[in-house]
Amino acid sequence: MADSGSPRKREEKEEEEDIVCLDPSFFVDRSYEMTTFTFGSLELRLLCLRAASTDFDLTGQLVWPGAVLMNNYLSQHPEIVKGCSVIELGSGIGITGILCSRFCKEVVLTDHNDEVLEIIRKNIELQSCSENAHAVLTAEKLEWGNSDHLSGIIEKHPESFQQSSISCLFDTVEKIVRIQAGKCRFILAYVSRTKVMDALVLKEAEKHGLCVEEVDGTRTTISNLEGVIFDITLK
Ligand SMILES: C[S@@+](CC[C@H](N)C(=O)[O-])C[C@H]1O[C@@H](n2cnc3c(N)ncnc32)[C@H](O)[C@@H]1O
Repeated sequence: MADSGSPRKREEKEEEEDIVCLDPSFFVDRSYEMTTFTFGSLELRLLCLRAASTDFDLTGQLVWPGAVLMNNYLSQHPEIVKGCSVIELGSGIGITGILCSRFCKEVVLTDHNDEVLEIIRKNIELQSCSENAHAVLTAEKLEWGNSDHLSGIIEKHPESFQQSSISCLFDTVEKIVRIQAGKCRFILAYVSRTKVMDALVLKEAEKHGLCVEEVDGTRTTISNLEGVIFDITLK
């Protein structure tokens, strides 16, 4: 074993000092080509690289066979995503999400790589000029396993990706309370599991013309979570 003062260690240190660090952009190939892809009766025109020609982590600059498989499948079964909100993970150039946008309400294309996100955004821009554009298309940074990234996306797209059952719950509550013309109240025992859900409950109540009041002295810890009783009435 070589200690820090040994000739070998000194040599290694000198070699390290000789290494010139190149900016990562030195390895980036941005020679994207406009390419036409056909899936059944659907045609997509997107920018992409034709071949991997970089040693940087840029697998997303290319269209992979898995995306072709997925797009063929979805073009044959558009009903799977029709009218839905879709979030795509590891979008690459965005070929699958962009195909979905032909049938969906909203599509969020995600990737962790900033260079890849740039080409996704360019491809999204290209769609805005297309008469086939139906859905709202956006690109967001999402690193798999990063719950902050995911919460950020859910907060930014509440209509699409938050638990839709909350909205349905308040639809029903509002109807019952209105039928009783103010003589009725809704008592909700709420246990907080996520901040996103906490905000959504208040937002949905507001949207339905309901007033939420915390009942004094009811805030408590239950099964390690914070619980509270809300008194919900018509505004
Ligand atoms: C093999 S490419 C596939 C791209 C595209 N879905 C396709 O099939 O053409 C994998 C993609 O996932 C992204 N990716 C890899 N690891 C990731 C991670 N940990 N979090 C988010 N995205 C990731 C890469 O940047 C790349 O765009």
